[in-house]
Amino acid sequence: MKVLVIGGGAREHALCRSLSLDPDVTALHCAPGNAGIAEVAQLHPVDALDGAAVARLATELEARLVVVGPEAPLVAGVADAVRDAGIACFGPSAEAARLEGSKAFAKDVMAAASVPTGRSYVCTTPEEIDKALDAFGAPFVVKDDGLAAGKGVVVTDDLAAARAHALACGRVVIEEFLDGPEVSLFAITDGRTVLPLRPAQDFKRALDGDEGPNTGGMGAYSPLPWADPKLVDEVLETVLQPTVDELRRRGTPFSGLLYAGLAITGRGVRVIEFNARFGDPETQVVLARLRTPLAGVLLAAAEGRLADLPELVWRDDAAVTVVVASHNYPDTPRTGDPIEGLADVVAQDAPDAYVLHAGTRLADDGGTVLSAGGRVLSVTATGKDLAQARERAYAAVGRIRLDGSQHRTDIARRAAEAPEA
Ligand code: AMP
Ligand code: GLY
Repeated sequence: MKVLVIGGGAREHALCRSLSLDPDVTALHCAPGNAGIAEVAQLHPVDALDGAAVARLATELEARLVVVGPEAPLVAGVADAVRDAGIACFGPSAEAARLEGSKAFAKDVMAAASVPTGRSYVCTTPEEIDKALDAFGAPFVVKDDGLAAGKGVVVTDDLAAARAHALACGRVVIEEFLDGPEVSLFAITDGRTVLPLRPAQDFKRALDGDEGPNTGGMGAYSPLPWADPKLVDEVLETVLQPTVDELRRRGTPFSGLLYAGLAITGRGVRVIEFNARFGDPETQVVLARLRTPLAGVLLAAAEGRLADLPELVWRDDAAVTVVVASHNYPDTPRTGDPIEGLADVVAQDAPDAYVLHAGTRLADDGGTVLSAGGRVLSVTATGKDLAQARERAYAAVGRIRLDGSQHRTDIARRAAEAPEA
């Protein structure tokens, strides 16, 4: 089958890599893609937010399946436009993607479906904001209601900072602080059947030891040796299935990837957030462990046939991904620097470690790869356990040279050293 992937980050590179290894995929296209994706898919320049343009491209390419990676096109209705053109699309409708696009909407769905989450208030006036901040006390959790590319959430002990962020948001969700390790659990759904994938953990802060500002994610690993083996079943039963059922009941079924960001608190599992798409960088480690060819799974979800799909098959391997970010990320990242050593990773680390590109582009010479964004690439490695996967990932990171770049050195360290902690 011919497949078109929309997006151009490391998540889309991971999706394209898996799809390129699927014998059922006869042609792979990506728009807009990046310098790494160009090695496995044919790239097309298209405005990913323009549903009509994406649908036209998919029609021209005679795509059997379109996979929409990032949230912004989903919230803008790109999946609807593709489906209206009669082409199967993996990704929710604009209505269903509000689960990510509006935190207030997500809270409303969770309340209706009795899904465990932090208590919260939706506020629009300074009086409401002050009342909510006062009710919860520090640490304050203040979330912009709308999509904010990972920058909408402020968690702080500083009342003035919490208040300033809330006032700047317009409509804001103020929430109880949830204490405990975080887990990202993805599920593939066709709006009725829900297929959870393996859990992963993301590292959101920029610096080692969870210091520094929030980012899109600096690394991830899977499996989670410290997690309760019953966690996935419990989240399926208390979070994923009720949410999917509630959206179907409302007449806006959610099909695509439902991402539950969870806190494992002393009082049980709580949803921190929902996303309507694969997470980045968790996708890199989850897909590294999936043995079942990906295209058939995504197509079955897009066509409402997940109930007929055989169980997913997983590798026993562990996987670790480490993000290499530009100088000054997440503030104003420096771009345009040459990246060297990529071929060394291929030569010395393949197939256990590989580079997935995010913010990269080819220089005019057609050979040099340049940094073009905040998160530049992520190095993903597999191994018999987390310690080996970690070692391989960091060995490969060490071969890559990008002036001024930064990465965390502690991705998966605790889980690898003290698996029961
Ligand atoms: P989000 O964009 O909702 O994923 O929030 C970004 C990060 O902020 C999360 O990964 C958490 O680390 C933190 N966060 C969000 N909500 C809460 C909460 N209620 N309690 C504690 N931390 C939170
Ligand atoms: N890794 C966090 C996200 O994809 O939103």
